[in-house]
Amino acid sequence: MEHPGGQVCFVPGAWTGERGRFRVTGHRGRAALGSLVTLEAPSPDRVTPHCPHHGHDEAHCGGCPWQFVAYGAQLAAKEARLHSALSRLGVAEVQAPIWAAPETLGYRNRARLRSDGERIGFLAAGSNRLAPIDDCPVLTARNRETLAALQGRLPEPAWRPRRRGPLTVLPIDDENGPEAVAPDAPQPFRQGNSAQNARMRDWLAGSIADYAGRPTVELFAGSGNFTEVLAAGGCRPLLAADSAGDALATLGTRALPAVTTLALDLFDAAAPAALADALADAELLVLDPPRDGLRQLPAFIRRAPRLSAVRYIACDVATFARDLSALLDAGFRLEEVQPLDLFPHTPHLELLARLARAPR
Ligand SMILES: C[S@@+](CC[C@H](N)C(=O)[O-])C[C@H]1O[C@@H](n2cnc3c(N)ncnc32)[C@H](O)[C@@H]1O
Repeated sequence: MEHPGGQVCFVPGAWTGERGRFRVTGHRGRAALGSLVTLEAPSPDRVTPHCPHHGHDEAHCGGCPWQFVAYGAQLAAKEARLHSALSRLGVAEVQAPIWAAPETLGYRNRARLRSDGERIGFLAAGSNRLAPIDDCPVLTARNRETLAALQGRLPEPAWRPRRRGPLTVLPIDDENGPEAVAPDAPQPFRQGNSAQNARMRDWLAGSIADYAGRPTVELFAGSGNFTEVLAAGGCRPLLAADSAGDALATLGTRALPAVTTLALDLFDAAAPAALADALADAELLVLDPPRDGLRQLPAFIRRAPRLSAVRYIACDVATFARDLSALLDAGFRLEEVQPLDLFPHTPHLELLARLARAPR
């Protein structure tokens, strides 16, 4: 929303173009943060949320903040955010139409439930407090069954937080049932929407057709979701790096041909040197970083003179734009950005980017 004084204010529960009264509660950078008091001119894109736990205060679940907006308008807002970032770099013409999620409910294959031993829920919007839930319609059917089974165990003294400690985390995943839930255990990374992950893998397979038999480096490989695609496409030799040793151990069990793994903190200033040999030969670089992106990407590129292609899978538009700018400066051309909706009803936007440069 725009303050009459001209300042932009992020108001959870208000949508683009709406007019109303809001209270300023804080600041983030140059923008203000606010809470909605009364809505005077509602958007025509408003819909009735399908989940009774949806809301934007401490009594409601913070998991799906856009559930009050029609799905088409959510997609348009995501496309507009990307278009604005790419326009600033002068490359918006390669943006493809967003791939909507085939299912806007029942898609979420993993989640981190919270419990105080008496109730189960998610974190409330913008807080560390528990918002108890009866059910969650964005979870896959198997995860909803797991949730119900866990609720059947309440009250559960083992899930009571230690004095003043945080709520107990109950990680759930639809590859496992309730018996596998390990309270507070770290959850290995997995793309959270299986149908959309299959499309990402197909996109990657189609985008590397020319790279069979060509040396490849993959950064942020995790347990090998995309490594498997690269290996099947014949990219070799293939070096896959990630900091999570347990994920790389899982990758190792896939026994992919010509794949070597390296456990490495890729944000460490020494990481490009640690990959020097593989980078010196690499013709294709694939990366799928966390939201931070890879600020020191130029240091990897400088060690890779034979690199002619980059496939960048991104989960944050701002850090992607920063890294894209560095790639353009290094002589790469952006050929395609395919946005994809991994998490309907949230602001999250996933990007698949294809870049090329003439070999040196
Ligand atoms: C978005 S996930 C991608 C994983 C994999 N490509 C997939 O599709 O399942 C990001 C990965 O970055 C890894 N990661 C996070 N911080 C890292 C760091 N500092 N150095 C190396 N890897 C890191 C995580 O372990 C995780 O596997």
